[in-house]
Amino acid sequence: MIRQSLKYRKTITVIGFLCLLLLVYLLLILKRDINDKVTSHQRLSKKEERIFESEPKREKHVKLAKMELDKNIHSTIKELQDAKARIEHLEKKIAILEGRIPEKYPDVKYLGYKERKRILVTGGAGFVGSHLVDVLMTQGHEVIVVDNFFTGRKRNVEHWFGHRNFEMIHHDIVNPLYIEADEIYHLASPASPPHYMQNPVKTIKTNTVGTINMLGLARRVGAKILIASTSEVYGDPMVHPQPESYWGHVNPIGPRACYDEGKRVAETLAYSYAKQENVSVRVARIFNTYGPRMHVSDGRVVSNFIMQALQNLTITVYGNGKQTRSFCYVSDLVDGLLSLMASSYTLPVNLGNPVEHTIEEFAMIIKNLVPGCRSTVATGAAVEDDPQRRRPDIAVAEANLRWSPKVTLKDGLQRTIDYFREELSRTTFYNNQTYMDINVKPHN
Ligand SMILES: NC(=O)c1ccc[n+]([C@@H]2O[C@H](COP(=O)([O-])OP(=O)(O)OC[C@H]3O[C@@H](n4cnc5c(N)ncnc54)[C@H](O)[C@@H]3O)[C@@H](O)[C@H]2O)c1
Repeated sequence: MIRQSLKYRKTITVIGFLCLLLLVYLLLILKRDINDKVTSHQRLSKKEERIFESEPKREKHVKLAKMELDKNIHSTIKELQDAKARIEHLEKKIAILEGRIPEKYPDVKYLGYKERKRILVTGGAGFVGSHLVDVLMTQGHEVIVVDNFFTGRKRNVEHWFGHRNFEMIHHDIVNPLYIEADEIYHLASPASPPHYMQNPVKTIKTNTVGTINMLGLARRVGAKILIASTSEVYGDPMVHPQPESYWGHVNPIGPRACYDEGKRVAETLAYSYAKQENVSVRVARIFNTYGPRMHVSDGRVVSNFIMQALQNLTITVYGNGKQTRSFCYVSDLVDGLLSLMASSYTLPVNLGNPVEHTIEEFAMIIKNLVPGCRSTVATGAAVEDDPQRRRPDIAVAEANLRWSPKVTLKDGLQRTIDYFREELSRTTFYNNQTYMDINVKPHN
């Protein structure tokens, strides 16, 4: 009995032990499961945490990208606005240019092949040259203007741009020129003292080398050539009025010599080519000429006085005002040049208006022609080598060309004043400057 109860006790103990082992095992499994779940939960949170942490960075990137895009859009808009402004500016410029180009050219006569000449005008964009071009064009000729625009302006001839009879060549006549022409009006040379004194060597070259080039061209193509000489070949004359036979009184080393002597050599060259090379030459000795398209900073008496009168400034007379000048209106001069070219007279011819005025009188005439002018007339220091008397003897022109000036001083001045008034209205002045402050040097 005892032995049996001992046997049961052993069995129960073993079973109990086994149950305990099983329980421990189950507990261990349960613990591992719980741990696994806790770890996986923790892992999820870290990912979430990372996502959470990265959120502001992404926003920052998005913000930066947006800012970059805004900047690009802004600069593109600015570029477009700039381009639009530029286009508008160019459109305005084109409109102005279109306005300047006449839809209809001035009336031009039709000339047949045999009558129509090819005429070269050197200095054709200048004051006298452009008026000459107008007449030659309206007569129906083919006109070629050659100019280096030193004192000339395209504006003087722009009303012919595009016309089938008109051509313009930007060229300095100090260099040779090879073109075809039937007639040459050789006018290229600065004409007013401030311009020709600005570069005296160039003035001499233009009147000597340039004239040789034009005479050479005339010889090559068999053209008739007219040389624009000047009353300055008489210098400060000792004979009054000056006939063509007067040889002059020129200071060869004075401030005006580059022009005076340059023109004297030009005349000598013309007659040398005529004698030696049989070139058909005409020589016009031009006296003071005035009119629209004169250079406003010409610095000579007409432009100076008119500009001063129009701006109510003191009209300045250099010297005592008793020196005399005679002034020819530009259309009269052009008629004279055309008549001379057409004539068979080959010696020099004076072209000018013999009506003589003292500079003092002239100042008063201009003052009285400008309505409401409040200018006073004052005298200044005399200018070196300023000729005291100037008046053409035009008997040769009257006899050989049947030419004499027609336009009265009053009419001519009135037209010139209107032109200068228009020029003044185009100019912008700063700090109370006047035209004289900007441009003008003393010369009568
Ligand atoms: N206007 C006058 O009162 C007057 C008086 C006497 C003589 N002239 C003579 O008449 C001619 C015309 O005078 P203007 O009053 O018309 O003068 P301007 O200055 O208005 O015209 C001269 C023209 O010649 C051009 N020119 C100058 N040097 C040149 C060069 N090396 N090559 C090409 N072109 C050149 C200028 O650009 C200008 O278009 C000149 O020869 C001048 O000496 C004029």
